[in-house]
Amino acid sequence: MDISTPNELKLDNYWMPFTANRQFKSAPRMLESAHGMYYKDAEGSDVLDGTAGLWCVNAGHGRPQIARAVERQLTRLDYAPSFQMGHSLAFEFAQRLAAISPGGSAAELDRVFFAGSGSEAVDTALKIAIAYQRAIGQGTRTRLIGRERGYHGVGFGGISVGGLVNNRRVFPTLHGTDHLRHTHDLARNAFTRALPEHGADLAEDLERLVALHGAETIAAVIIEPVAGSTGVLIPPAGYLQRLREIASKHGILLIFDEVITGFGRLGAPFAVDYFGVIPDLVTTAKGLTNGAIPMGAVFASRTVHDALMTGPAEQIELFHGYTYSGHPVACAAGLATLEIYQQEGLLTRGAALATLWQEAMFGMRECPNVIDIRTIGLVAGIELASRPGYPGSRAYDVFTDCFASGLLIRTTGDIIALSPPLIAEPDHIDEIVTKLSAALRRVT
Ligand SMILES: Cc1ncc(COP(=O)(O)O)c(C=O)c1O
Repeated sequence: MDISTPNELKLDNYWMPFTANRQFKSAPRMLESAHGMYYKDAEGSDVLDGTAGLWCVNAGHGRPQIARAVERQLTRLDYAPSFQMGHSLAFEFAQRLAAISPGGSAAELDRVFFAGSGSEAVDTALKIAIAYQRAIGQGTRTRLIGRERGYHGVGFGGISVGGLVNNRRVFPTLHGTDHLRHTHDLARNAFTRALPEHGADLAEDLERLVALHGAETIAAVIIEPVAGSTGVLIPPAGYLQRLREIASKHGILLIFDEVITGFGRLGAPFAVDYFGVIPDLVTTAKGLTNGAIPMGAVFASRTVHDALMTGPAEQIELFHGYTYSGHPVACAAGLATLEIYQQEGLLTRGAALATLWQEAMFGMRECPNVIDIRTIGLVAGIELASRPGYPGSRAYDVFTDCFASGLLIRTTGDIIALSPPLIAEPDHIDEIVTKLSAALRRVT
């Protein structure tokens, strides 16, 4: 069957990711352009971006500085191989990233490995962790620990440590993985405005897994400091600190997946800075280039990096990398993005807006079916009661209703996630609340 839009665009050929293809193609929602805080849809109507695209357009859309940098780079050096070859932009970008690296200079998380996406950054970090353990004589440590409800992209490594059932059930996963329990506890923590009070003890799960498998089999534990894709789960007070202590005690590397939380989302440059907990590896992507050009990056500690810089100098230390690692155009976009973040103070702007944002979100507490609201920095999760027998359908209806009235939100199951660009002004926040609360009242 041929499916086409009124302007005769054929929709059959594009197999869309994470999309109900047939449902979408029967009633497409198309975005045609974007500027600042707004998209324009196919009818030319404004759609307020309540999600920074997919948590990535932190500096807002259509930034000329990034466009110019990309254009300049495309005409100067469009592509350069990164295996046994270099180009100056990759070194410059790594150096600039090191200057703002998670935890500041004392954390020494300033060795940067480039990838092409968040999923690739995750697989890179997992492989570095295993290679590190082997390099320090701990070759039996190959097990990887993730967490229930975690999202670490869609590579086989990422889904193996990930904890979202729909991303796992159809596919084989790596053996030698295990999972901490998730920290979501609506009964005890709903509508908490600060960090959830209950649940720090869940970090003790790592002790339980050590007792089950033996520390000498475990290479690393990976978590999102704030779980994003599963519906904004904020870590209980003290949880991350405890996880750090247990990991260190047992020689297990701690990986923070900051693909969402990195680059200002929490009101600090990284979650590492926000929580003051220093992991051994940090994965990033998305806001790294303001979403303009695909790219991921892993920040590795000097300890991890240096342990692999051994052996004969002519030997490749890590047999890993991508055709697009350190892509010159992505580096150009990233450098321009960092400049904007710094010029406009965007890496900490979320902190100035966080209270207003939280007040605005909690203003929707009395809307129908709302069973929890949680915010941190410029992120919010609004959880709805599910329709009996139809989980996810209520939030999906709110999503389509919002889009029709000019607001882009994101939903996972029956949780609405909001994460507007960090250039948002109070008026934009008002507009989000006005449109979303109207949709929540309309959708039964
Ligand atoms: C925490 C986290 N890790 C990894 C990824 C995967 O990134 P990508 O979609 O760029 O592969 C995502 C994407 O949303 C993410 O939120």
